[in-house]
Amino acid sequence: MGERVPRGGAHRALVVTVSDRASAGVYEDETGPAVAALLAASGYEVAGTRVVPDERPDIEAALTRAADEDLALVLTCGGTGLSPRDVTPEATEAVCERRVPGLPEAMRAASARITDRAWLSRATAGIVGRTLVVNLPGSPRAATENLEAVLGPLGHGLDILRGGPATCARP
Ligand code: MTE
Repeated sequence: MGERVPRGGAHRALVVTVSDRASAGVYEDETGPAVAALLAASGYEVAGTRVVPDERPDIEAALTRAADEDLALVLTCGGTGLSPRDVTPEATEAVCERRVPGLPEAMRAASARITDRAWLSRATAGIVGRTLVVNLPGSPRAATENLEAVLGPLGHGLDILRGGPATCARP
């Protein structure tokens, strides 16, 4: 997956867990904190974690709010599978103005070396305003495995999106 050195570049990131049961308090969300810890270890400024149910209006509102807050990155966790309640990709695509298909392609390709169930993730990624939204699967392990697969290019993409001095020329 390209360079292995993660570069968060101190971009502000939010983690949104999408889960009916976690949002209802049936169990505690462990995925959001696991993803937040990986982001922090990779140089991101983690603005927080939020939990919403598997409802398109709630997911779309969380993404729109994050864009209004001018966060650089929103990682959603869960709701990318084939269950009738899994609507995170649809909510993401409804809100985003531009798609970034390479990130979920890279996540699925890397994850398929771990489990062939990786191909069941319908995760998408896109841009709303100056905010990049990337879907991850819902379990802590799957979510962190997917994020690790794109940490290298992600920081560079955010530098470009946020209008920094980044150049695409490789050293
Ligand atoms: N990717 C990795 N790296 N590791 C995993 O264990 N699980 C898969 C897939 N991606 C998995 C993975 C499975 S079983 C499913 S159903 C999809 O992610 C969607 O997960 P979600 O419904 O929790 O979003």
